[in-house]
Amino acid sequence: MRVDLYMVPGPIKEKGLAGKTLVMIDVLRASTTICYALNAGAKSVIPVSEPGEATEMRAKIGIDNSLLCGERDGIKIENFDLGNSPLEYTEETVSGKNIVLTTSNGTRTYGRSKNSGLIITGAIVNITTVASRVAKENNDLAILCAGHMEHFSIEDTICGGMLIHKLLTDEKLILELNDAASLALLLYRSNSRALKETVAQGEHGRFLEKIGFGEDVALAAAADSIPVLPILKDGQIKREENQTEP
Ligand code: MLT
Repeated sequence: MRVDLYMVPGPIKEKGLAGKTLVMIDVLRASTTICYALNAGAKSVIPVSEPGEATEMRAKIGIDNSLLCGERDGIKIENFDLGNSPLEYTEETVSGKNIVLTTSNGTRTYGRSKNSGLIITGAIVNITTVASRVAKENNDLAILCAGHMEHFSIEDTICGGMLIHKLLTDEKLILELNDAASLALLLYRSNSRALKETVAQGEHGRFLEKIGFGEDVALAAAADSIPVLPILKDGQIKREENQTEP
């Protein structure tokens, strides 16, 4: 299996992702929030780029069964129902709802996936589930890290490295890696015992701690705590059908 990891979305063209399995990663916090939302019983998450698009989408799908969610600079957007803290996505708030979500980096990256095959949302919280689904698909893989404003984010790349490590060791696959994928693997293997610290000490981890979301950073680094499999199809992210709802 060929594995290409991209540390930021910038250089990548939709054509380069065509037909491949795609794993989108934004550990802090879009990917983690999506896992929490689906685990709490949300019907779907609809990722959109801009707040205006989110409002239009919500009007289109109906106000009653949906919530308007997202952040800018880490903070809930004015007049939206929820921000981007995974802790807000409880059964009580999101069960049975369609979540229209816009975040600064994470939800924007889904725009690159138009021609891809299976499109999975990956995070540290669901990493083993993602690895076994990628192995089952047995197709070339692209790992797209959201990064932060087109800059490298250590938590996304280490999560990509963790996925590659699991494909090699748990799934026993033979992989052909691009150089960014090799670097991500080295990063994970040299920090696997300090995953929480590495995520917390990154730029975005420090920023979230400073604005009062330190708890989000700790739970985003908790491996396999939310083992859901979010799949994007026809613009909506849902749990894969054979995964039982809570
Ligand atoms: C993003 O998309 O950049 C993040 O999810 C921002 C955040 O931490 O809320």
